[in-house]
Amino acid sequence: MKLTLIGSGYVGLTTGACFAEVGHEVMCVDNDTGKIATLLRGEIPIYEPGLADLVTQNVAAGRLSFTTSTEEGVDHGEVVFIAVPTPPNPDGSVDLKFIEKVAREIAPCLKEYKVIVDKSTVPVKTGEKVAETILRYAPSAEFDVVSNPEFLREGSAVADLMKPDRIVFGSNSDRASALMKKVYEPFVAPLLVTDIASAELIKHAANSFLALKISYINAISEICEASGADVELVAEGIGMDTRIGRAFLNAGLGYGGSCFPKDIAAFIAISEQLGVPFDLLKEVQRINRRQIDRFIDRIRKALWVLEEKRIAVWGLTFKPDTDDLRCSVAVDLVERLAAEGAVVTAYDPKGMERARELPLGSKIRLVASPEEAAVGVEALVIATEWPEFARVDFRKVRQSMLSPLLFDGRNLLAPGTMRGHGFDYHSIGRGAP
Ligand code: UDX
Repeated sequence: MKLTLIGSGYVGLTTGACFAEVGHEVMCVDNDTGKIATLLRGEIPIYEPGLADLVTQNVAAGRLSFTTSTEEGVDHGEVVFIAVPTPPNPDGSVDLKFIEKVAREIAPCLKEYKVIVDKSTVPVKTGEKVAETILRYAPSAEFDVVSNPEFLREGSAVADLMKPDRIVFGSNSDRASALMKKVYEPFVAPLLVTDIASAELIKHAANSFLALKISYINAISEICEASGADVELVAEGIGMDTRIGRAFLNAGLGYGGSCFPKDIAAFIAISEQLGVPFDLLKEVQRINRRQIDRFIDRIRKALWVLEEKRIAVWGLTFKPDTDDLRCSVAVDLVERLAAEGAVVTAYDPKGMERARELPLGSKIRLVASPEEAAVGVEALVIATEWPEFARVDFRKVRQSMLSPLLFDGRNLLAPGTMRGHGFDYHSIGRGAP
């Protein structure tokens, strides 16, 4: 099929490349001429495992192309996906100006029947607004609007798209549904077809449930610290119940990234607008903020005064296998340590380039390896659980440090082994601090 993605950011580009990989002819549109020029040169603006190869191969095979022209894109696709950013407003609600703009831009380009698919994460009822907007600018246009939420995770986006747990779309038209089924025919996954509002809600409900799981185990981690229990064993024990499941029960510094914080805030705002405040999610947010506060308290307790203390931080990205620093708890942690006067050296396997671009980049020292970061420091902090951090020679790291304080904010390491290496080891929810 001929498909178009409007918006070639994280979701649009990865989805477009995967659609091309299964045989569709895909055109990715973006109004950022710099981004499209980069893609046309064969370079990928983001780091995502497997994506660069997928893009290169499908461009070479003639199934993936790029343009800055919305008109060219709309002409190309039988199905046109909108995958533009939906940033938060200061009050947590979603700013839909990019979606509205694309709807306006699509309208005059509609010369024959098209399915317009909302792939961006949007509040319930956005589909209705998109349809209204297109009709306002093109009253005789023939089209249907569909909501098709994405569930891809950064770091495993290609795998998530190629082998999804489920495919969900919401449609009020048989004609549009038939085309959407054809789009997803090459993917082997359970398909759920709903009305538009339900599909829109599924995305926010899924993400907030996952965030709830994280905050739930983080709340348990505090009880574990107060009682001497081990949160890893508690997570294992409750996770063995198939009704609960072990996934997303990793205690740590809390969730970050471009989705969870924004989506939870948006869901709270939408529920309030609908007159049914979802207060449970406010507690999810509160627990999430508390994890980092508690962690910094522990560092402060050990070092007494943070000013002038040399602290190494391993990990800056919001999770491993990405270069994304957006709403990263690790960045927040570094900022807060630096604000209290600590002298921070930091290393991240993929996030260094982006870290240099942050205002924070000039206030801390970014170094070339985890070992280098730890030389001469009073404390070492693990803020993101990159697997390579578990493989360093901790005996040598310990020897290079001024004092053996190790704060593992992601429970990456084994307490017994680290204490064996001579560390004063602290982690999350594993016995009394
Ligand atoms: C998330 C959803 O998983 C995905 O389905 C949706 O489409 C977009 O939002 P993503 O933001 O890429 O994906 O990352 P995810 O792997 O879900 O992790 C989000 C945050 O939660 C990270 O900061 C991670 O460190 C944290 N997390 C995750 C935990 O603290 N504990 C866990 O057990 C799992």
